[in-house]
Amino acid sequence: ITVSVSGTGGVTSSPLLYGLMFEDINNSGDGGLYAELIKNRGFQGDSLTAASLSPWTAVGGATLTLQSTSPLSSALPQSVNVKGKANTAIGISNPGYWGIEVKPQTYTGSFYVMGSYSGLFTANLQAASGGKVYAQANITSESKKGSWTKHTFTLKPPSAAPDTNNVFSLSFTPTSSSQTLNFNLISLFPPTYNNRPNGMRPDLMNALKDLNPSFLRLPGGNNLEGGSSGNEWKWEKTLGDLTERPGRTGDWGYYNTDGIGIIEYLLWCQDLDVEPVLGVFAGMNLNGDLVPESSLQTYVQDSLNELEFLMGSASTTYGKKRIALGYPEPFPIKYVEVGNEDNLNNGLASYNSYRFAMFHNAIIEKYPDMKIIASTTEWKPQIGNSIGDAHEYNTPDIFASEFHKFDKVTKEHMTLVGEYAAVQANLRTNTSTDWDAPFVDHPWWIGAVSEAIYELGAERNSDRVIGLSYAPLLQNMDSHQWHPDLISFNADTSKTTLSTSYERIKLFSNNRFTAVLPMTSSAAFGPAYYVAGINDDTDMYIFKAAVYNTTSEVPFTLSFPGTTEGRTARLTLLTAPGGAYAMNTFGGPNAVDTNVSTITASGSGFSFSLPQWSIAVLTTGRR
Ligand code: AHR
Repeated sequence: ITVSVSGTGGVTSSPLLYGLMFEDINNSGDGGLYAELIKNRGFQGDSLTAASLSPWTAVGGATLTLQSTSPLSSALPQSVNVKGKANTAIGISNPGYWGIEVKPQTYTGSFYVMGSYSGLFTANLQAASGGKVYAQANITSESKKGSWTKHTFTLKPPSAAPDTNNVFSLSFTPTSSSQTLNFNLISLFPPTYNNRPNGMRPDLMNALKDLNPSFLRLPGGNNLEGGSSGNEWKWEKTLGDLTERPGRTGDWGYYNTDGIGIIEYLLWCQDLDVEPVLGVFAGMNLNGDLVPESSLQTYVQDSLNELEFLMGSASTTYGKKRIALGYPEPFPIKYVEVGNEDNLNNGLASYNSYRFAMFHNAIIEKYPDMKIIASTTEWKPQIGNSIGDAHEYNTPDIFASEFHKFDKVTKEHMTLVGEYAAVQANLRTNTSTDWDAPFVDHPWWIGAVSEAIYELGAERNSDRVIGLSYAPLLQNMDSHQWHPDLISFNADTSKTTLSTSYERIKLFSNNRFTAVLPMTSSAAFGPAYYVAGINDDTDMYIFKAAVYNTTSEVPFTLSFPGTTEGRTARLTLLTAPGGAYAMNTFGGPNAVDTNVSTITASGSGFSFSLPQWSIAVLTTGRR
């Protein structure tokens, strides 16, 4: 194939193009990115069932009772009462979120206690079996009857534990069997990304940073919507001290602590230098419960309050609240998405008749420059400059066939691709997702190559496709509801596994176009798909390609303006020696080979061949 790239014309690329989508699914927040190590720290419940003691267990033969007569706060009404024998060390023990990693680093802990006690508490990290103690802290207490006292401590293991089969224990020694104590909000954090208190797991944040993302769509996904009326994600309940956060019944089968609250989401955006795409509840829950038009204004006002909270000055009600929480600088929001997948669950009629317009008009009236994103591509009528959101979970063959899908996107109906993933084997040709067919465990190479073609189709239309975010982003291998996912992890940070799709997004996202350039080609697209552009910031021409389903290598002769003999280019080629169905299984080796070479042009251009199932990026300096 002879391809000649033009130096002029073309379209400006969206600066957002590659981004992240996050919701708490697969214990990706609690037990995942959120670095808290203690599961059910506030006795809100371990699963979706009501408050419970699980997974806490007794130490020293203690009797543990869930009690609610003396709440720590209205948000955390339950606590554990610990009772045992006189002059015996008794307490509670927690196995973390399917294990606790012990490394030679500083762990920061805290707990609240109520009851009369003058003595020492012992906090430690120890092996779940055998009792080997890796780190211990003694905390002096003069806690009083009838009031809650907060204690803090640090644990500094001198060496690492061999595995994550460890527990955290907190114990005390009563002087009589009637000396009982209540405990709540027992928390333990390892070091966090950028050392933020109440922060994020560094290994996962580093993996996200390496993707060079430009936006973060949050906080859902389904998890924004709530399973039924009243269970939607509520920004105001995620604020402030952890004692003030009640958490909520998440949409994915487990309780959410809301430790990652709206402020933590925005700090995460700052830490990764990405644009927030803020989802607001649009009046429809996942089960189809619908807020009627006559009551929707309350929710519209709530989204305005949220924006005022994030961006308002000290003279506004909610801006003042943010400042009082210690955040004097506003968190600028440029993109608001109204709901999630409102085309589903019979939601489209109400979305199009009143829900989208009510949110859109109210937000635009107050923030005329705000970009409002509808949660579907089927939103009507098109109001103002609103943008749609296309979600697609499909087969590799269908993704590979969609190189031209975004050619149809118009300037009047621009779109975000807020979720996409090749999830199923090529067993059908109908284009809609078959939710009953099995999904693959991890992104496999054939899917990754097909997603590349889909992304290239978006890139060549990236004046109208504003961004792409693969979903779901993360899965905890000990508790997941959805696969495939971009990154897999468990309590052992050394096992974090980046998928084949991750490898491709990283390559494409780190080689951004500022503008797509026109090109002429001697062949039609397929089995090779490609797009060319320029990055004005780095002064580089960039050519991206993917090859799907061929029997022989595809030879290219590629020229850019000013190509002369001797010009050099860098070619990065991703292949999977294990073949189309190779995947990065959890903790296993990387199935993707990255080969970087320098190639030198002849007078007619750069000559190279791309093999079956490959993804490539070629860069050369502008002349
Ligand atoms: O990404 C998983 C789910 O898929 C999202 O929560 C939802 O928006 C979509 O249906």
